[in-house]
Amino acid sequence: MKNLECFLNGQWLKLGEASVNILTHTFHYATGVFEGVRSYDGKIFKLEAHTKRLLRSAKLIHFDIPYTEAELNTWQREVIRRNGLQDAYIRPLIYLGEGTMSMDIHHHPIQLLIAAWPWTTIHADKEAAGLRLQTVSIHKLAPNSTRIKAKAVAHYLNSALALNEAKSLGGDEAVLLDQHGYICEGSAQNLFFVKGNELFTPTLGTALDGITRATVIELAAEKGIPTTEGDFTLADLESADEIFLTGTASEIIGARVLNGCSVGQGHYPITKMLHKAYLQCVRGS
Ligand SMILES: Cc1ncc(COP(=O)(O)O)c(C=O)c1O
Repeated sequence: MKNLECFLNGQWLKLGEASVNILTHTFHYATGVFEGVRSYDGKIFKLEAHTKRLLRSAKLIHFDIPYTEAELNTWQREVIRRNGLQDAYIRPLIYLGEGTMSMDIHHHPIQLLIAAWPWTTIHADKEAAGLRLQTVSIHKLAPNSTRIKAKAVAHYLNSALALNEAKSLGGDEAVLLDQHGYICEGSAQNLFFVKGNELFTPTLGTALDGITRATVIELAAEKGIPTTEGDFTLADLESADEIFLTGTASEIIGARVLNGCSVGQGHYPITKMLHKAYLQCVRGS
């Protein structure tokens, strides 16, 4: 991994040689935004949508970005090409460098890292059996306590705490509730459930506007399966026929257990059908 090349503030460097100053603002205060992007067979899936979300995230936290959308796309394609990667994960991160350590972000230089490395699905080992989901005491951040629509570094302490709590309770992945107690999303995935021939997913007030979520809604519509977005309770989830999570890293993965109880009848025909359609879509076949 350390021999892979990354793009750091305008230079191509080996990962093992790229470094940041220990007084980097983002290292201390989590002032940054990022993306998680995948390539399949060397081709990046929905690159433009990811870059647009990266720039929207940056704007939401008041960063004046000195790079164009086209440049960001070129460098992400280049990181795959230079490293000869096929199935990979790309991590663009826009962060603040060293400065006065004040909270005024305009006193710190905007920095850019684009790294990439080989990748398979994070829950690949759980794909056949299905995930054990666990609700946790950590709730999603309230929208007005931050700019929740930004994919911001700071939001991932919330995700990490939730995931670790879920694991300590015997789960593989967390289901976070929002500030009102409605079901919201996983630690890094959007949440769907199936009842009959319909999909349901939480509205986007608090959950991230997932690119996989949007793709799944489109694929389901093509197969005649409608999706209803709304405020749903844990009881709605408990009475579902199927539950699945979606995300760039996780793709589409079904759950077999929710809080220690079996989900539906233990079959996930719609989840499997959508996962198959998603894999065809990402590989362009
Ligand atoms: C909190 C959160 N929700 C949902 C998602 C899924 O988003 P996407 O499908 O764009 O990867 C992610 C992925 O990064 C995430 O971090």
